[in-house]
Amino acid sequence: MHALIVHCHPEPRSFNAALKEVAREILQRLGYKVEVSDLYAEGFDPAEGPTHYMERTNTEVFTALTEQRHASELGSLPADVCREIERLARADLVVFQFPLWWHAQPAMLKGWMDRVFVYGGLYTGTYRYDRGHFRGKRAICCVTTGGPEATFAHNGRGGDIDLLLWPMHYSLYYMGYDVLPPFLAHGIQGGGPVYQAQDSFKAQLETYKAGWARRLETLEESTPIPFTGWNDWDERGVLKPGMEGYDYFIRAHP
Ligand SMILES: Cc1cc2nc3c(=O)[nH]c(=O)nc-3n(C[C@H](O)[C@H](O)[C@H](O)COP(=O)(O)O)c2cc1C
Repeated sequence: MHALIVHCHPEPRSFNAALKEVAREILQRLGYKVEVSDLYAEGFDPAEGPTHYMERTNTEVFTALTEQRHASELGSLPADVCREIERLARADLVVFQFPLWWHAQPAMLKGWMDRVFVYGGLYTGTYRYDRGHFRGKRAICCVTTGGPEATFAHNGRGGDIDLLLWPMHYSLYYMGYDVLPPFLAHGIQGGGPVYQAQDSFKAQLETYKAGWARRLETLEESTPIPFTGWNDWDERGVLKPGMEGYDYFIRAHP
């Protein structure tokens, strides 16, 4: 079994980096061969654009999807994208480690998705969702937030965390992954504890690390997040009558 940790944090001494090391250690102990894509350390360029494409099909106007498909057909995808795709191809399990930045994954990780999930190569109009490229593989996000846990409930000021993470999870599902419920570490203030005394903050960090380790050890017990799929949609791409949907984003009733 192979696992890939896609790690998105600029600071090696951060709590995110510590959680990444927990995942590396536990997964190795469970028998996985573990690779890490350390996006900042490796200097991944998250900005999709014309500079990445040497043999353009249209040199006048840059269209990302067109150039992605063309480069994919030509076998001329950028080297860093090829490396990431090869890592993903090897991985039965992909762990995404990141802090919540502006109510979403950091731009670095979003840009990694923009460039690595290549149109024409890893997905097309018919080859996506529950017919996606990475069918049969699992993905899980380990996310830290600055705000405390209560604020990420449905009525909390941080915003309902299930809704905040939906675009990330749905994009992974779009690529075919079985997306496991995330592991969340709340109240992590990078600069130091705000809500708690130093000692109890440190104890809280250790509790989160132990919780993440336990979660990884019991992944087999995790049921993937349910999403609607091709059989649930009609020819217009909307839910068929009788299909209620599973979340706030795709649902039968307004
Ligand atoms: C640019 C930026 C945006 C942030 N946005 C949010 C946010 O929307 N919600 C939140 O709870 N915390 C937010 N935070 C706080 C981070 O989530 C928090 O610092 C991080 O999870 C701490 O982990 P670390 O010590 O490993 O960096 C933000 C931090 C930064 C730097």
